[in-house]
Amino acid sequence: MPLVDPVTMRRRRRRLNEVPKEQSVEEDDSKTQSASVPGRRRGVSPIFLILLAVVAIAGLFRPVSVRLYNYYIRRTYFPQTLMRYFIETPVHDISMTVPVYYECADFQFPDLEEAVDIQFRGRLRRKEYIALSYGVRLQKGEIEKYNAGEYGNDTLFIKMLLSDQNAIYVDGARNYAELYYTLQSIESNDLPFFVTQLLADYCFKEELQHYSEDRFMKLLYNNDTHFNLMHSDFIENPRTRTLMSDPPVNITLKFTLLGAEQFSWDIQEAFQDELQPYARRLSGLFNFTYLFEREALSNEVISEKSIDDKFPVELMDLPGLAQYYMNSLNDDPNLVHLVFYPFALANGTIENKTVDSRQIYSASENTFLKIGNWGSIYFSHSPKENPAHFTAEKLKDCMWSFSETIMDFLDFPNDNMAPILRVEMFERVMVINYLTCYSNLLFVIDMWVKENITSYIDGSTIDTVIYTLELRSQVLTLLNEGNSYDSLIMCQKMVSILRQKLFELGLQGRTSDLFAQYVLEAAAQEV
Ligand SMILES: *[C@@H]1O[C@H](CO)[C@@H](O)[C@H](O)[C@H]1NC(C)=O
Ligand SMILES: *[C@@H]1O[C@H](CO)[C@@H](O)[C@H](O)[C@H]1NC(C)=O
Ligand SMILES: *[C@@H]1O[C@H](CO)[C@@H](O)[C@H](O)[C@H]1NC(C)=O
Ligand SMILES: *[C@@H]1O[C@H](CO)[C@@H](O)[C@H](O)[C@H]1NC(C)=O
Ligand SMILES: *[C@@H]1O[C@H](CO)[C@@H](O)[C@H](O)[C@H]1NC(C)=O
Ligand SMILES: *[C@@H]1O[C@H](CO)[C@@H](O)[C@H](O)[C@H]1NC(C)=O
Ligand SMILES: *[C@@H]1O[C@H](CO)[C@@H](O)[C@H](O)[C@H]1NC(C)=O
Repeated sequence: MPLVDPVTMRRRRRRLNEVPKEQSVEEDDSKTQSASVPGRRRGVSPIFLILLAVVAIAGLFRPVSVRLYNYYIRRTYFPQTLMRYFIETPVHDISMTVPVYYECADFQFPDLEEAVDIQFRGRLRRKEYIALSYGVRLQKGEIEKYNAGEYGNDTLFIKMLLSDQNAIYVDGARNYAELYYTLQSIESNDLPFFVTQLLADYCFKEELQHYSEDRFMKLLYNNDTHFNLMHSDFIENPRTRTLMSDPPVNITLKFTLLGAEQFSWDIQEAFQDELQPYARRLSGLFNFTYLFEREALSNEVISEKSIDDKFPVELMDLPGLAQYYMNSLNDDPNLVHLVFYPFALANGTIENKTVDSRQIYSASENTFLKIGNWGSIYFSHSPKENPAHFTAEKLKDCMWSFSETIMDFLDFPNDNMAPILRVEMFERVMVINYLTCYSNLLFVIDMWVKENITSYIDGSTIDTVIYTLELRSQVLTLLNEGNSYDSLIMCQKMVSILRQKLFELGLQGRTSDLFAQYVLEAAAQEV
């Protein structure tokens, strides 16, 4: 008997707040929600304790009857209502808090923090329909302390400056933003609104989109008697699917210097200084392989027709570039091309070139061109002291540009934010995906228990469920403390333990069958 009847499986995409009440998803305000959840969660421990007590007592006296008694108790207390709760509301008890420091030297606003908190949360609830509780912990700080690194390298700092117009600036290289406000905006008390706008529209927008209730898709099975929820990342992004089931994902980063006859570079050193910290932090998700290469310019003749339309036709006559691009088109799709191209290779032919009305050459700066999912090209002036050699110091900006390319390639949210903040946003998004995935694994167990009503339910299955529920509560605590990295690691552990259990029960195929079937069907509907 199949776990689900594929014919009744349909795609339903709607806001959770349209779900009828009896299906137990309640869309009330986040405060009462988070208040109601700990109450339920606390229900886990007594059951667990009862189980333990029974096992211990029975174990001491009558080993033979343990199984029977145990069997009965465990079946009776199998936390199915609890499971249903986590299946139907995979992320509603989550509360994330992101710390943000600000300095406002010209004026004192005693209630700014509170006003921003209320506006920000209100906006996420009413306008963005966020399925979980997401807030910023705005705290007063000082720019000197920020510059001295006292707030950590991953905490956003906002400097607020009195100006003749309202404006916003976000630094893509550092965890830093500026907000310019006018006297008039103070009179009309618009500052909290501007800060909210800065956070919700510029800093965290793309991350928040992943938490919108629209992104949790409800799947109905068995004549609509059962349902679970799936995150749309999982359905739409094959890499997310791999991350959920079999991390890490293999990614190759290929750093190439063109013009090997004339130039050399300290790429490994630059990589270690600038990119290694991120690579190390992401190693639970991605297995990076690095290739460092210098390539001589090729004289091959390439016709415009033979190259694909992603390569800018304006750059066809730059020595060696189109040739390199052509030869790379058959590379593994999980390879990111990071190409370094000294301006000097072009002998001035590059001077007046524009791509998408952007000047490729600048007399004073290096430039950077992204090409879809292929990678990017960094165009650089030669160093003054030693024109043929690029030191690690000279490659710093290039490394930042490459980190942007890599993060874009991996679909990290929000390309106008600093790399470390993008990493954290991605980690939080993945935690949400893992939690949704976890609730799907619970769903498989729940279905199996229901249909297998007459057979023996192994006590270790229940213990595993309860243990992973405890891990889940640690995930939530870490997330609330702003520790996205440890939260993610804990999530991976939680999911892999439950997945291992499904494997032992011979149910591992069911999750993938279920997902594959759904993905196929979703794709068919989109055509
Ligand atoms: C941020 O600081 C931590 C230590 O506080 C360090 O381990 C980490 O490498 C730094 N990350 C970056 C990207 O500089
Ligand atoms: C499915 O539900 C409909 C309406 O509730 C009912 O008429 C039908 O018999 C059900 N089918 C099955 C296979 O249970
Ligand atoms: C990554 O590469 C290794 C070795 O080539 C392979 O065994 C593994 O299955 C790959 N992982 C994924 C997720 O493709
Ligand atoms: C990581 O990639 C390397 C090189 O492709 C491979 O040998 C190794 O098995 C991979 N590791 C994992 C855990 O996939
Ligand atoms: C550019 O100049 C170098 C020497 O300065 C020369 O060897 C090379 O052929 C020139 N390339 C082009 C495309 O004109
Ligand atoms: C670029 O444009 C400037 C001014 O329009 C002109 O003087 C120069 O010769 C041009 N350079 C090339 C390489 O075409
Ligand atoms: C019910 O459980 C037994 C024992 O674990 C297993 O062999 C059987 O395949 C299960 N039946 C279904 C329909 O999953």
